[in-house]
Amino acid sequence: MDRSELLHRTAELADRFLDGLDERPVGAAADLAGLRAALGGPLPVDPVDDGAVVEALSVAVEPGLVATAGPRYFGFVIGGSQPAALAADWLTSVWDQNAVLYVVSPAAAVVEETVAAWLVDLFGLPPGTSCGFTTGATMANFTALAAARHAVLRDVGWDVESQGLFGAPPIDVVVGDEAHVTVLAALQMLGLGRDRVHRVAADGQGRMQPADLATTLGGLRGPTIVAAQAGNVNTGAFDPLPEIVDAVRAHGGWLHVDGAFGLWAAASPALRDRVAGVGDCDSWTTDSHKWLNVPYDSGLVFVRDAAAHHAAMTLGAAYYVETAGAERDPYNWVPESSRRARGFATYAALRSTGSTGLARLVEQCCSHARRFASLLGDRPGVTVLNDVVLNQVLVRFSSAAAPGRAPSAAADALTRVLLAHAKKAR
Ligand SMILES: Cc1ncc(COP(=O)(O)O)c(C=O)c1O
Repeated sequence: MDRSELLHRTAELADRFLDGLDERPVGAAADLAGLRAALGGPLPVDPVDDGAVVEALSVAVEPGLVATAGPRYFGFVIGGSQPAALAADWLTSVWDQNAVLYVVSPAAAVVEETVAAWLVDLFGLPPGTSCGFTTGATMANFTALAAARHAVLRDVGWDVESQGLFGAPPIDVVVGDEAHVTVLAALQMLGLGRDRVHRVAADGQGRMQPADLATTLGGLRGPTIVAAQAGNVNTGAFDPLPEIVDAVRAHGGWLHVDGAFGLWAAASPALRDRVAGVGDCDSWTTDSHKWLNVPYDSGLVFVRDAAAHHAAMTLGAAYYVETAGAERDPYNWVPESSRRARGFATYAALRSTGSTGLARLVEQCCSHARRFASLLGDRPGVTVLNDVVLNQVLVRFSSAAAPGRAPSAAADALTRVLLAHAKKAR
């Protein structure tokens, strides 16, 4: 099959998949053994026709796909794709740009710069905030905390990029008890230790308790990093940022906010109050592949102290032709060197919604969540466990014999059975 035929046929397959999303069962139909049988086996010795490869791939993976991009998938904070973002993502593969340096792809660099400016404004972050386009919130957390590590050690005269952590003044890292596991993973990769953190108590919704934070900070003397959260993955709850900002400013240190999905609340006039105080923090994480509905993978990191961000990420190898002027070299703001030009899809998503469409997208999703909670909550045997302040609805099913919020093995088992049925339903 020639290239043009191949791409047209691929577009047909894509269209057919998207057309079927509304109707197909949400869960995968195939099991592990079936998928291994369909996809495994030895590497072919001889070349296979491109069309045959794509056709066979599409047939073999079909029963192993989960309809996460469809309208009936409600798990985690996984979104679908806006059409313009999806199309731009296709073109990103076609253009095959290496978004490493300005000189390698000026268009990719300027698109990143444009998106960064739009989002700094939309989220209400301080002017001059730098931005990196990461694979997801995990690497955005990693990047932000690397910038934090640089800045708090720089302030006590230690160059962590050149000297490492051996012999460095110890850093105290403070997190809420319900910090997302990827914040801890970032600390683990940065040599700051996932179990060395000081944990601050969280309330029943998972919000960090500012009084407990102040007490914890009161006992610390060294360089300090605090990681707060805007949008708890289970409840949607926001840490009380204004009080947390006050506590961190009184003590000194760096304040990071993981807003993997919750930061998008800032794009909505109706929900912006949830992230009050966000502009007074030092670094921020979010994901385009969550609420903006850009295809995977696409995360974003923002850092107020652009010099710290740059110092923590730059490689500066002699053969990299870095620009000396105002041009953006994308690799200076992320952990990778060669990388996908993932700014194009985010650019397309934002252009297609505009700021009002984006606000509508966020608000509509939250309104569906409230409806979900109200319809479910009216049913006997269903308990909504969280305050629905955003997009997350947390439910437990229980038998009439043992109703209520209290966890029980019987309720957990019943919840699992019901979820398994829902996954198979059309
Ligand atoms: C609050 C929070 N932080 C970080 C992450 C990790 O995001 P990613 O999977 O894009 O790395 C998630 C994912 O759900 C999240 O909810």
